Amino acid sequence: WLLPRLDGYLEAVRELASKWSMRQIVVGAALVEDGMLLAQQRHYPAVHAGRWELPGGRVEPGESESEAVVRECREELGTEVRALERLGTDVPLLGGSGMSLRVLAVCRVAGARLPLPLEHRALRWVGGSELAGLPWLEADRLLLDSLRALLSSG
Ligand code: C5P
Repeated sequence: WLLPRLDGYLEAVRELASKWSMRQIVVGAALVEDGMLLAQQRHYPAVHAGRWELPGGRVEPGESESEAVVRECREELGTEVRALERLGTDVPLLGGSGMSLRVLAVCRVAGARLPLPLEHRALRWVGGSELAGLPWLEADRLLLDSLRALLSSG
């Protein structure tokens, strides 16, 4: 009687694992200061080199989205931010990775350093009217309406 049960159990574990991987979240940080949004330009991998994105990356196991966004800003920008609200809806990343991009508005904590391009080619503060003209990664581009609304709200 044990073997069929074991099979069922394994099947359930597999199902959970695939659900989990479908929900893998990549967080992006929308940092606005003086009415401008911070964007960074990738230099790797080759297919993404030169394209612009919000700072961010994968949420690691055991980490909350807010913790992930704070860590990514520390690693990529060398600065301290606080996570605020979520922006827009999740955008599935292309390429069958099963990951989705989820953007959180963030603010730099008082006294924290100015952001630096520690892992990217360049950083740029972008105004609302310039947003559409940048060559964004596809997922980030789909969030431009929400980003424009964030810029005009404050
Ligand atoms: O930066 P990292 O390699 O951890 O990102 C994981 C994936 O999320 C990559 O495929 C990257 O292109 C994508 N990404 C994105 N937009 C962002 C940040 C990451 O599409 N703002």
